[in-house]
Amino acid sequence: MKILVTGGAGFIGANFVRYLLGSHRDWQVVTVDLLTYAGNLENLAGVLERANHRFVRADISDPSRMAALFEEGFDAVVNFAAESHVDRSIEDCSLFLRSNVVGTQVLLEGVRRMRGCRFLQISTDEVYGSLGATGKFSEQSPLSPNSPYAASKAAADLLVRAYVKSHGLDCVVTRSSNNYGPYQFPEKLIPLFITNALADEPLPLYGDGLNVRDWIHVEDHCRALELVLEKGRKGEIYNVGADNERTNREITDLVLSATGKPASLVRYVADRPGHDRRYAIDATKLRTELAWRPLWDFRDGIAETVAWYKNNRSWWERVKSGEYRRYYEKMYGKRLRDAEKK
Ligand code: NAD
Ligand code: TYD
Repeated sequence: MKILVTGGAGFIGANFVRYLLGSHRDWQVVTVDLLTYAGNLENLAGVLERANHRFVRADISDPSRMAALFEEGFDAVVNFAAESHVDRSIEDCSLFLRSNVVGTQVLLEGVRRMRGCRFLQISTDEVYGSLGATGKFSEQSPLSPNSPYAASKAAADLLVRAYVKSHGLDCVVTRSSNNYGPYQFPEKLIPLFITNALADEPLPLYGDGLNVRDWIHVEDHCRALELVLEKGRKGEIYNVGADNERTNREITDLVLSATGKPASLVRYVADRPGHDRRYAIDATKLRTELAWRPLWDFRDGIAETVAWYKNNRSWWERVKSGEYRRYYEKMYGKRLRDAEKK
């Protein structure tokens, strides 16, 4: 089996490449990544030079570059490559359309030219929009994206569907809930709060802190993806979630207790515009059809993740410098100063 993993130097992609190289030692893996601010070759340290692994720096939305790469032929393409942060998409979504929508279309064209190649699109529960206090998203829930990021992912999902219907491509889509674990870029809630707490910096909690996300450990997600890649049915969508809903306040308390830091670090700041209130995933299809189960207990997962960030301080201190500092000041500077005044 020869497999192309796009976005494999990012958080979930790198965890997946590591997982695959560990669980399928006879597979050939080619990792493609543009190495944007979120991509980091350090995420692949230790597996970069494996004999059955190769890294290629390239943009998935570049048709000639991708066509040249597809010449070598693949049995499967797993597409993680994307701009992935909601707050950045609210600031400017042009890159989101290029990488998430055009990039997916370019890959689908490449797959179209190869015989027998499976395409796995890594999507998100955010395409379903926001829930009230009850109910869960099923694969039949209507697409109702609220952020430009979610809209770009929904557009890509619909393109995948169209390539199945119009061209008969062998595609499968997974829609996962929020992931956490090692190598996550510290602009997302859990790694941002862990690294800020470790550095005794304020934790900017949006709005009332009662928005709910459904958390899954990245390793549980990777095992689900391996199953869907090998046994998922053509043209189907599989939700991936571990029945683990938490308010952002609960996450904050867990991070503070796991890092041993005081509640005085918390700042309630101005809310994110269009902030989805609640996500909850019904993964019955994945559980019954493919016999998937999450293995991580959430408290253990958070403790292990905090330990990883403690042990890899130089990794996150480096990624939180340069461009990130300017982004952080733009995103949080005024909100934090306003919170101090209250
Ligand atoms: P990430 O931002 O950590 O990584 C994305 C990677 O894609 C980076 O390495 C980046 O360099 C690369 N990339 C971006 N644009 C590219 C392009 N044009 N060409 C090649 N590479 C490019 O994101 P993540 O959290 O690892 O998410 C991976 C995928 O999973 C995304 O598609 C995201 O929508 C989806 N997803 C994420 C979550 C989550 O909680 N993080 C949940 C559900 C789904
Ligand atoms: P995030 O990690 O950005 O994931 P998503 O918005 O894609 O679910 O945010 C998770 C939740 O945490 C979301 O409700 C927004 C909230 N949040 C904060 O309260 N403060 C922050 O600094 C960030 C980044 C997120």
